[in-house]
Amino acid sequence: MAKGEVSKTTKYREQYQPSSYLIDRVDMLVELFESHAEIHSCLALRRNPLFTGAVEELRLDGEELELKSIAVNDQALPLSGYELQDAHLVIRQPAESFTLKTVVQIKPQDNTRLEGLYKSGSKFCTQCEAEGFRRITYFLDRPDVMSVYDVTIRADKNAYPALLGNGNPAGSGELPEGRHWARWHDPIPKPCYLFALVAGDFDLLEDSFTTMSGHPVALKIYVDKGKLDQCAHAMRSVKKAMQWDEEVYGREYDLDIYQIVAVSDFNMGAMENKGLNIFNTKYVLANEMTATDADYDGVEAVIAHEYFHNWTGNRVTCRDWFQLSLKEGLTVFRDQQFSMDMGSPTVKRLDDVRVIRTAQFSEDSGPMAHPIRPDSYVEMNNFYTVTVYNKGAEVIRMLHTLLGADGFRKGMDRYFERHDGQAVTCDDFVQAHADANQRDLEQFKRWYSQAGTPVINVSDHYDAANQRYTLTLKQHCPATPGQKEKQPFFIPFKIGLLDKAGNDLPLNWQSKDADDQAIYGREAVLPLQRAEQQFVFEHIGEKPLPSLLRDFSAPVKLRYDYSDEQLAFLLANDSSLFNRWDAAQQLVSRVMLNAAEQFRAGEEMRLPAIVTEALAAVLDNHQLDNALRARLLQLPDIGYLQELVEKIDIDALVAAQQFIKRRVAETLYQPLRDCFQRVRGATGLDGDSAGRRALANTCLGLLVDSTDAEAYQLAHAQLHEAKTMTDRFAALRALAHSAAPNRQQALDDFTHWYVDEALVMDKWFTVQATAPLASALQEVQKLEQHSAFDAKNPNKVRALWMAFSHANPAGFHRADGAGYQFIAERVARLNQSNPQLAARLVSAFNRWKRYDDDRQQLMLKELKALLTQSGLSPDVFEIVSKSVE
Ligand code: ARG
Ligand code: ZN
Repeated sequence: MAKGEVSKTTKYREQYQPSSYLIDRVDMLVELFESHAEIHSCLALRRNPLFTGAVEELRLDGEELELKSIAVNDQALPLSGYELQDAHLVIRQPAESFTLKTVVQIKPQDNTRLEGLYKSGSKFCTQCEAEGFRRITYFLDRPDVMSVYDVTIRADKNAYPALLGNGNPAGSGELPEGRHWARWHDPIPKPCYLFALVAGDFDLLEDSFTTMSGHPVALKIYVDKGKLDQCAHAMRSVKKAMQWDEEVYGREYDLDIYQIVAVSDFNMGAMENKGLNIFNTKYVLANEMTATDADYDGVEAVIAHEYFHNWTGNRVTCRDWFQLSLKEGLTVFRDQQFSMDMGSPTVKRLDDVRVIRTAQFSEDSGPMAHPIRPDSYVEMNNFYTVTVYNKGAEVIRMLHTLLGADGFRKGMDRYFERHDGQAVTCDDFVQAHADANQRDLEQFKRWYSQAGTPVINVSDHYDAANQRYTLTLKQHCPATPGQKEKQPFFIPFKIGLLDKAGNDLPLNWQSKDADDQAIYGREAVLPLQRAEQQFVFEHIGEKPLPSLLRDFSAPVKLRYDYSDEQLAFLLANDSSLFNRWDAAQQLVSRVMLNAAEQFRAGEEMRLPAIVTEALAAVLDNHQLDNALRARLLQLPDIGYLQELVEKIDIDALVAAQQFIKRRVAETLYQPLRDCFQRVRGATGLDGDSAGRRALANTCLGLLVDSTDAEAYQLAHAQLHEAKTMTDRFAALRALAHSAAPNRQQALDDFTHWYVDEALVMDKWFTVQATAPLASALQEVQKLEQHSAFDAKNPNKVRALWMAFSHANPAGFHRADGAGYQFIAERVARLNQSNPQLAARLVSAFNRWKRYDDDRQQLMLKELKALLTQSGLSPDVFEIVSKSVE
């Protein structure tokens, strides 16, 4: 095995064993130099009373470390006392308790994987989750080993005036040769994946927050020099998050200082290291002229997410990495709740549901399908997925629905009370809720163990003579890798019944099961627990129209035979605004899929009038808020349609989607134009202004889809006159995704303005990489040569290669296979420098089996070629080998 290469073995959840040793205290000295870093560590080790087996040796994790010295209880350890293996340091015959001192040398400057200690520009920073700490020093790198840390950092004072660590500051001072030091003490025991350090020269925004018990907390945000005018929104978001967690969950911050550092080179969004969060610049920097409203929302949500981890993740952490959803599903749920409270709850909810229905459903029906608590993995980094995160959040949301807000809060209180300071499992979490509410949640736990998306078939019957309405729900869940048969899930199924006037009928239902209580009200959560179950509603005076799965109360696929007219009626009348959107999506998706069929059959594609009439009514409905109207008018994209069909005929879907968009735009040109003129030009940062921008820009996008020359002019004018990035970028996007004669001019103007703003240039790359144009691949190839592109920078890779492969179906799936070839080559390159990112990129091929035979063969060829490549990382190996199976 090559140095630093880690084996491709599978780890199993069932094989969990407590650690043989614990580490109570860690004392570190980190010396940073231009050519390398030296890490002195002193670990206080003792036998774990929970470990029952014999202990002949202690295996510490360590990768790409150069051991300089080793001592046990301050005595240099002779060669016979230890063994250096490829990824381990083995101590022979360890005592019951002892201190271990090691000194290792590492090379952060050469660390392109961005795991462990690395350099981003001129700054040192770290990323230790999941298993990066072993690239800094020898350690028991597992989350159930929790320690109190004292860390001293030393570096050149001029180049690195800021030396930051976890916890509270504990001293600083000068050193000879222009160096200086700072010491940090973190009093709260933590797993090593929450370790962080930063050294660099930053601009700093400071503020403070007083917690509910009166404790002052210093708030600090560190950014690249010159970016101070892009930090205000992040700081506001921190304070809102701190206050919200006190109000909604009674959770208070626990250190004297909370720090956020923004770095440009980061594999993910951000990281919740104790008291020292490290963020991708994308989720910190924002001002009116650099960030869109969506970017603002992203900053607020991710800042909140990382802050909320302080309780859900840090104070109570995961026993092992299979339990990742314990902290991620829960924390995503909390950040979603927070965002719903900060803005429009319906709009936030439907944006979150879109992610489930596109990315998560796709993952759940493919080769990488896994339960939110996986049973096995080769490379843990491959399991930071939309399933663990977003479906995990849906599972928590169902628990919230079943227990009610108060019951859920009781469960959370019990969870913190019981497990503060511990590393626990998903079962522990559910048990705390079961105990606090005296509920049996055994069946509910299947959501943690079974993968796949349940399908619910709904049929109904109205018995006029007895004024009785019966809903019959059947659930089944398709097989997923390693799981043929599934047991029925416990599904909270929220419904309402509409009368002829569109009002909710009073519900009066009693299930045949004795243990269900009757529910009276205008909305009901039906507890579906068996493969087939009937729900009977009495005293229903007319045949109702059911409004099903309101708010997407469970992550399932719903089948019910609505007519077009019924969907249009729901869109116009449902008291559930969420279900109005859902009805619009269903109606338009159906029409698009029909058009795709017509295209395949060589017939003329058609757009039924009922669709344009329904959309015209939305444009005209001034009762609805603007942001929601914008969402109602946004037509489903290919990613959404793909999940509705068995076999994907990509050419037909692309043709149908383009046809329907254009036809809608032509038919509604005048009302769209009127609406655009009426609401455009809002400049404030408040929700109402953002809602106006959303509606105006949705109209503008559709106007441009009509290919009308006047629409191109409107977009061009907005591009130049815009007072916000939201408006400017919407205009750019509309033009860049069109065949407008001034398209290239628009793109050139935009680069000219923003060539020095890295995050804005990312948008510019993405808008071209996702353009539904025949020339997309050539453009992407050209853009790789652009001076702002950098294959070592994850944001750039995401902006160009990921955007093209994951969000440009027409380009990536070109019939000649050139898109596949291009991406596979990039995967092979990235496999060397940044395997984690390479694995994300290669997942574009995961769903190869769902395309036509020719494309299947072309994709399979690339996957097989990758498998034979030498030096394939475990990351890429796992994704590719599972795909070709
Ligand atoms: N825990 C981080 C979060 O807030 C994600 C870190 C994942 N990093 C990784 N290399 N897998 O979601
Ligand atoms: Zn997280």
